[in-house]
Amino acid sequence: MSMATILPRARAAKNGSANDTIQLGIIGVGSKARGHIEHLLGLEGVRIVALCDVDAANLDHGQSILREQGVRAKGYRDMRRLLDNPEVDAVVIVTPNHWHALATIWACQAGKDVYVEKPVTHNLWEGKKVVEAARKYKRVVQAGTQNRSDTGFRQAIEYIREGRIGKTQWMHGLWFKERKSLGRVPGPQVIPDGVDYDLWTGPAPMEPLMRQRLHYDWHWDWDTGNGDMGNLGAHQLDDCAHALGATTLPKRFLCLGGRYARADDGETPNVQAAFLEFENAPPVIVELRGLPHQTGGKYMDNLRGVRSGNIVQCENGYFSGGRGGGIIYDNDGKRMEKFPGDRGLTHFENWLEAIRTRKRSSLRAEIEVGVRSANLCHLANLAFRSGLPTTTDEVERRVGQYGHATDTVHSIASHLEANDVDLKGAALTCSQWMSYDSVKMEFSGGGDYGNSIANALVKPNYRAPYEVPKRV
Ligand SMILES: NC(=O)c1ccc[n+]([C@@H]2O[C@H](COP(=O)([O-])OP(=O)(O)OC[C@H]3O[C@@H](n4cnc5c(N)ncnc54)[C@H](O)[C@@H]3O)[C@@H](O)[C@H]2O)c1
Repeated sequence: MSMATILPRARAAKNGSANDTIQLGIIGVGSKARGHIEHLLGLEGVRIVALCDVDAANLDHGQSILREQGVRAKGYRDMRRLLDNPEVDAVVIVTPNHWHALATIWACQAGKDVYVEKPVTHNLWEGKKVVEAARKYKRVVQAGTQNRSDTGFRQAIEYIREGRIGKTQWMHGLWFKERKSLGRVPGPQVIPDGVDYDLWTGPAPMEPLMRQRLHYDWHWDWDTGNGDMGNLGAHQLDDCAHALGATTLPKRFLCLGGRYARADDGETPNVQAAFLEFENAPPVIVELRGLPHQTGGKYMDNLRGVRSGNIVQCENGYFSGGRGGGIIYDNDGKRMEKFPGDRGLTHFENWLEAIRTRKRSSLRAEIEVGVRSANLCHLANLAFRSGLPTTTDEVERRVGQYGHATDTVHSIASHLEANDVDLKGAALTCSQWMSYDSVKMEFSGGGDYGNSIANALVKPNYRAPYEVPKRV
């Protein structure tokens, strides 16, 4: 292949430089981006030339990692200035979730290719806009759902699809990871020195900081995060869609949960389960637990030994795993096949290769795929938010269409009891079985109350000048 054919199109078109190195800008240099920087520094044919963060301390930290490796990158506070830099071919967006869509759209408009972290959007409406932007500006946009690149998980999916252990009966994705209390602040907190809070807040409502930590704990505030369903659950929902080959949204879904045993500043549930039914596919459950196995306990619950991953139950056995590969067992629990994985380490390489070839079809998590998976998080969360306090008996009645669903409800109830949650009252918030029309962008099935709550949350009121544009 000649140099000319592997030139990243954006920079080649702009300055015609005979340089096949893809020059990257990193937007958002918090905890996740540091791992990305270390990984990207080890790859050939790519150079980090710009970093952007609204927190001067995080920007400095990112630059010091680069300096240690002899790399100098321009620093920016405002991503729009980074996007103005013609030396930048492509950007890696690692901001909090409420910025993902707008940053992606701005980057596409500026002619940059994009790697955007999961969930690629903060709400349902943004999904359409990021895909429109990627298509209009012909950008190569990869979602940061790296399990799609895991060698072992991909092989296991093939094995299951070939019917080697019979028909799939159900799939259960789960992530049981303790989340400590955030504490409760008495009033608005001082914004840390060196942070541009207007830029940090961006498209979200401008509210005083009402928690101890600005960074990371935005996950538990609906204005900026998507709870653990849009965080850890984003991977499990994506794994389910990947394993089942789901290319549409579920025909109906129900979500239950609550925030328990943590009287703190977090809003989002710390125990949550989504039940999804896709057309012509087995039922899916994605379940998250942020509490230990019992009050004050040191361990987390597990399902067949899994604390983060998936169980795919088939007629003659099951798969257990996900990121990092996994194992096929027979129904007596005897190992049949092992699929060692690589934790999706080539996900960036897959993106960089597609930038060179301009073949978006070769991306393992092209933006449309990323949007679909993000939409699963949003459907689950909007169903949860439109739910009402419900007795366990009623929850069981509602979801109990098949054995594993009933077992899951029982298991959640026992888990809550072990954490001293009184289930005699209606302790679980539970939705009805709802449906979503992605063309009309409208919910149904949730009752007048449920539908109206969910419909009102399809698109937020953005804060000027950070509106996600109607026309990209
Ligand atoms: N794929 C994965 O496995 C994985 C793992 C962890 C995190 N993530 C994703 O990465 C993203 C970041 O997570 P994190 O844990 O690093 O969060 P974080 O809060 O530690 O870091 C976010 C950084 O973005 C900066 N930022 C905020 N607004 C910005 C703006 N407008 N411009 C530039 N920088 C801005 C913040 O100052 C902060 O430094 C999240 O979307 C998360 O879901 C993905």
